[in-house]
Amino acid sequence: MKHTKIVDVIKTDPVLQEIYVKGWVRAFRSNRFIALNDGSTINNLQCVVDFENTPEETLKQINVGAAVAIKGTLKESEGQGQKVEIEVQDIEILGKADPEEVKKTILSPKRHSLEKLREQAHLRVRTNTFSAIMRVRSKLSFAVHQYFQQNGFNYVNTPIITGSDAEGAGEMFKVTNMDLNKVAKNEDGSINYKEDFFGKETNLTVSGQLEAETYALGLGQVYTFGPTFRAENSNTSRHLAEFWMIEPEVAFCDLDGNMDLAEDFIKYVLEYILEHCDDDLAFLENRLIQEDKSKPEADRAPMTLRDKLKFITQNNFKRVSYTEAIDILRNSKPNKKKKFNYVIEEWGADLQSEHERFLVEKHFKCPVILFDYPANIKAFYMRLNEDGKTVRAMDVLFPGIGEMVGGSQREERLDVLQAKMKELDIDEEELWWYLDTRKFGTCVHSGFGLGFERLVLFATGMGNIRDVIPYPRSPQNADF
Ligand code: 4AD
Ligand code: MG
Repeated sequence: MKHTKIVDVIKTDPVLQEIYVKGWVRAFRSNRFIALNDGSTINNLQCVVDFENTPEETLKQINVGAAVAIKGTLKESEGQGQKVEIEVQDIEILGKADPEEVKKTILSPKRHSLEKLREQAHLRVRTNTFSAIMRVRSKLSFAVHQYFQQNGFNYVNTPIITGSDAEGAGEMFKVTNMDLNKVAKNEDGSINYKEDFFGKETNLTVSGQLEAETYALGLGQVYTFGPTFRAENSNTSRHLAEFWMIEPEVAFCDLDGNMDLAEDFIKYVLEYILEHCDDDLAFLENRLIQEDKSKPEADRAPMTLRDKLKFITQNNFKRVSYTEAIDILRNSKPNKKKKFNYVIEEWGADLQSEHERFLVEKHFKCPVILFDYPANIKAFYMRLNEDGKTVRAMDVLFPGIGEMVGGSQREERLDVLQAKMKELDIDEEELWWYLDTRKFGTCVHSGFGLGFERLVLFATGMGNIRDVIPYPRSPQNADF
């Protein structure tokens, strides 16, 4: 007999019928009431055991964490909190869980800190919070594909192992199969990469953009959605060493079109989960409300989670030039009172997360798209403006997070691109294939990158990016 998923069981009208379910015991009260969860929904199914007619040996094994299969009759529930329940006729213990062992883990039914859950990341998906986050993550990822597929984008898989550094920030993980104890050397003592697996120096990619550009200049509209790696030593709640990035790239599209795309895309995926993840969002929303109760009034969230998501989907993102933003920041209270860790002195300064969040949370009070950044704080491939000092870059800034998206119109003029690469000492030979696209039918094109975990972070209301990916990788941490 095929078992039914709990998400479907609880939607069933409680006409008496036979039901077969499988799941893990979340709680067992009074030798009678099992709260069963199979991961298909945040909701548990109440299964009522007839303890007088159940062997003592079986009853003893109905422990929190155990996997069980239950046959029974679906009935209208007499208890509160659920519409239906199962009157158990037969219960089979599929996988035991020793209560003494369970006590030592986060499966034990009490409140565990998020830090503790992180130490047992292999078990945390069995908690309400993590199963909710992971279902939302999965739905968001589906929505990403749906959006692009519906809008005529082609999904391309760009390489993970690469010989080029797209961002030029040098924060890359090396890929090698050389014996690190006896690395092949050149006469001058430098490493002889010719002896390495690929015969050249290779890294894990920091972005699929450069390759995506070549595909956009043939397929018209493409997107990547894959893992990216950064060896930056930022131990923050918004950075991972391995994260997933979504990168659309569009031919014949300028920066305005790029901003429209980013805004439309973000609104679509958030609307999608508002529509398809209501139970999980309600749970996560309530989690935040409970958490807020222990905080002083002033620190509590002004909006509930779902209102916050609707606020994004229903409002226009404010578009502001970097120059305008610098003026606002320079004249802001925290800047004048030197409350920022990095005080903004003059035009050209790179913006820190504290500045981005000030603009979004305090000044504009809505998502902000900053554009036309100084050329020398941005990557080499961004299109130079007429002023010769700013580039057609854009960052989408979100409340609580700061940068959600980074993108730009690309420099399509071969000579300008070559001059820029020369200035930054980027080897033309390395990027000959990239430069080719500017020789053969070059055109205006644009794209952006969105850090998927930052989106999940925002969508679930969690505070730390390590809690929205199954197995986070960060400095000094690659467990599991
Ligand atoms: O702004 P970034 O560095 O842009 C690029 O990589 C471009 N090549 C994208 C493009 O135009 N196709 O990164 C894009 C986004 C950031 O806005 C942020 O959301 C996320 O990727 N991101 C990270 N997320 C988690 N951990 C990190 N260490 C991240 N670094 C960037
Ligand atoms: Mg960026």
